[in-house]
Amino acid sequence: MKTTTQPSRSSLPRLWACLWRQPRNQIEIEPDRLDGKRALVTGGNGGIGRETAGWLYELGAHVTIACRNESKGRAAIEQFRRHDGPEAAVLPCDLADVHSVESAASNAQRYDIVVHNAGVAPTSYAETKQGFESAFGVNVLGHVALTDALLHRGCIADGARVVWLTGDIYITIDDCTSDYRYRGAVGGWRAYSRSKLGSLWMRHAYAAEQPDIRWYAAHPGVVNSGLAKGGPQWLRSRLMISTRDGARTSVACAAQANLQPCYLHNTLGIMDLRSDDPGANRERATALLEHCRTLLAGPESRRLAG
Ligand SMILES: NC(=O)c1ccc[n+]([C@@H]2O[C@H](COP(=O)([O-])OP(=O)(O)OC[C@H]3O[C@@H](n4cnc5c(N)ncnc54)[C@H](OP(=O)(O)O)[C@@H]3O)[C@@H](O)[C@H]2O)c1
Repeated sequence: MKTTTQPSRSSLPRLWACLWRQPRNQIEIEPDRLDGKRALVTGGNGGIGRETAGWLYELGAHVTIACRNESKGRAAIEQFRRHDGPEAAVLPCDLADVHSVESAASNAQRYDIVVHNAGVAPTSYAETKQGFESAFGVNVLGHVALTDALLHRGCIADGARVVWLTGDIYITIDDCTSDYRYRGAVGGWRAYSRSKLGSLWMRHAYAAEQPDIRWYAAHPGVVNSGLAKGGPQWLRSRLMISTRDGARTSVACAAQANLQPCYLHNTLGIMDLRSDDPGANRERATALLEHCRTLLAGPESRRLAG
């Protein structure tokens, strides 16, 4: 697997690498068999998540899809389940509601692979059930709530692999906080980019406190999925990759035995981040994880939760 060191702090080379000849420049992956392993994929009912879930299943894993719409989850499973194959199940889990996340964790099994894939890119300001801005609330806080609840119940096995889906668009911004307010679609993209920086940070923050688990972050590419729906389909299919190709980095992080914990980019490979890259700021990463826990446990969360 190739490694890329970012030559400058400028975001342009990274954004260029994200789009230019993306289909031809993708990294090669060599996932191993996963027979007998258990995998959980959030948002596994659609887009990149469904491809990831199906691919892990093809590799032999028992797969659970965590999703907010049970019937969509069942329909997704029917697309890849074989009657003589591994188990496939749906775990109801709305990441925009911390109570739903808690309930999901209480019904969870013990997983060898967890893929934090679900994500939203809001086109206008929206909030989660507990009143948090939705990109932060789902992409970062909901997944922190799920991770902590699974860890608390011993549902993440020692040596397990946990993959956070980031997006290299984070290079255009510098911070991720819970109090970002905005109007309109541009603000929504900024909120999304901030949340993807937060997701990348969570890999660092958890790795520092849970060294027996293998923490990864994956940039899937610019993918023709349900996330960014604008523009004509002919242009989207020219510039963007398929959801199957978008699942490659997640699958490599989940299943490639010789891939050490890293941030894996779909065209640049293993990212060796410069110290001035916002994604490399481990202090901010740790501070954000602590802040998320304060929001989840503290009086503000209880007040918001009503
Ligand atoms: N597409 C890209 O170009 C791109 C680039 C970089 C990173 N990513 C990341 O890749 C991941 C997958 O995105 P995608 O492109 O596959 O988008 P997608 O097609 O829109 O799929 C998003 C998934 O997340 C689920 N989800 C959204 N809100 C949820 C909630 N509150 N609780 C539980 N599940 C929820 C959706 O479920 P519903 O069907 O119920 O809505 C859906 O299954 C995201 O984390 C995204 O940020 C995507």
